[in-house]
Amino acid sequence: MSKRTYRDLPEHLDALREKGLLVTVDRQIDKDSELHALVRWQFVGGMKESERKAFLFTNIVDGKGRKYGMPVVVGALAANRAVYSVGMDAPVEKIQDKWDQAIAHPIAPNIVEKAACHDVVITGADLIGEGKGLGILPIPISTPGFDSAPTLTAANVVTKDPDTGISNMGTYRCALKASNRLVVRMATRVGGAGGYRHYVAHQKRGDKEMPCAIVLGAPPMVMFMGPQKLPLDADEVPVAGGLAGGPINMVRAKTVDLMVPAESEIVIEGFIDTQYVEPEAPFGESHGHVALEEYNMPMRITAITHRKNAIVPSYLSQVAPSESSVIKRVAYEPLFLKHLRDELNIKGVKNVSLHEPLTGLLRLTIVTCARDMPDTEIWRALYGAAFFKGDCGKITVAVNDDIDPDNMDAVWWAIAYRSNPILDVKLLERRGQGHGPKREHGTERDSTMLIDATMKSPMPPLALPKQEYMERAKGIWDELGLPTLKPQPPWFGYSLGDWLPEWDAAALRAVKGDWLENGRISEQHKKKGLKPETKFRPDEAGEE
Ligand SMILES: Cc1cc2nc3c(=O)[nH]c(=O)nc-3n(C[C@H](O)[C@H](O)[C@H](O)COP(=O)(O)O)c2cc1C
Repeated sequence: MSKRTYRDLPEHLDALREKGLLVTVDRQIDKDSELHALVRWQFVGGMKESERKAFLFTNIVDGKGRKYGMPVVVGALAANRAVYSVGMDAPVEKIQDKWDQAIAHPIAPNIVEKAACHDVVITGADLIGEGKGLGILPIPISTPGFDSAPTLTAANVVTKDPDTGISNMGTYRCALKASNRLVVRMATRVGGAGGYRHYVAHQKRGDKEMPCAIVLGAPPMVMFMGPQKLPLDADEVPVAGGLAGGPINMVRAKTVDLMVPAESEIVIEGFIDTQYVEPEAPFGESHGHVALEEYNMPMRITAITHRKNAIVPSYLSQVAPSESSVIKRVAYEPLFLKHLRDELNIKGVKNVSLHEPLTGLLRLTIVTCARDMPDTEIWRALYGAAFFKGDCGKITVAVNDDIDPDNMDAVWWAIAYRSNPILDVKLLERRGQGHGPKREHGTERDSTMLIDATMKSPMPPLALPKQEYMERAKGIWDELGLPTLKPQPPWFGYSLGDWLPEWDAAALRAVKGDWLENGRISEQHKKKGLKPETKFRPDEAGEE
């Protein structure tokens, strides 16, 4: 057997610990009311993205005070980009390349007979009764006060197309209902869950049930495939192999005809009812609102298998930023850029950014365009980004590369000064509602707004001291022992194209104290009869 080229979840946690990215909490924590709320603080407590960490809880009780043997880890896959990059085994700036490479060069899995995920196999009567079956798993409540059930969030749900035999792996929420029953929610909208297409295919064949395996704690490279959006009928596991640079070990599940990652922590096997649906939720959703109760797919559990010392992963989702928005953002942005740059062949596009805080990637997309791009190419980029994924890009804005897409003040600055709404804003009808709270109240149509906020012609410099002067002043600031500075771009002035060497020379004379010389020069250009505020350009003035 070839050597494994990827980390399993425990090895990944070791790597996080080594890098100081894992907080271990040994104090008793109530998974139902305390656990997610505690980790939430690092997203709403004024901490920087770079300060967030994964949290491992080793001493778990539930709302009844019942103790659990398994630890829970939250934020282990994507508390921030640094955590994600450990899972990807690549520096943050190489993540785009890694996705491009893996999608272009998938590697077929390796089928094994024995697997760690089968260390313990629970079936039959051992699945039934309080504290048994799903009851042995410390699944947290994500939004205490709103959610109606402990819900699996860090799940890779495996199903198979009954016609083609191609497997799908998607991250879908699953609410616990009984020791041997849960309810899975697969998005039914166009472009929704791949698993839902399998469900419909089973229904068409007259099957009363669909085999399903829910994987908790697969190796991170495989877990990253759950939220990733691949083309229809593309199996995720070979792409995970592409990420890993070697085959993923897969094993046949014990009671369903499906393959699961051999090094998974836990696998929940069973059959989804294709006839009956059961109310599920309320559940705090990734669009930032609580999804209200709706009918979803009950699944009867036929086996729970797990490793000897299994760890339960849970994703922090709901209002963005969250672990869910980080894991999706880092996966989706490379797909957008690849689409615009390589498939639509728009060469000047430098970056696509899905806005994260509160909007949760779904509603606002910023496309960064090179300064010399023709407006026709900028508009191709705007249309391309707005419609690449049905539920992203409702508002799509093109900016130049001096604008930080994560700084909304800067984006608004570009919209305010670089766009003329009547020419540079287009409203387009017919956009589906996508993932969002409006679904709760009917299926009304949404629309699209495209904004070209790039510079249409050269502009005067940004009016802050040039970088060298700001840096010199910072030296003095530090010397004076004033409060520590956190430079906020833009923190120095730079040219936006409309600037002349003559003005540079005058500015240099001014900072050297030679302003009288500038006065002598300007006096030579005195003119009679012009209205004040008439422009003067020294390059066009000639000798007088
Ligand atoms: C934490 C988390 C929870 C998610 N929950 C759901 C869900 O309940 N249902 C769903 O259809 N998609 C959900 N998604 C989004 C899907 O994982 C995503 O659309 C993915 O591309 C689906 O894969 P598929 O195309 O193979 O179905 C969730 C994503 C994350 C990160």
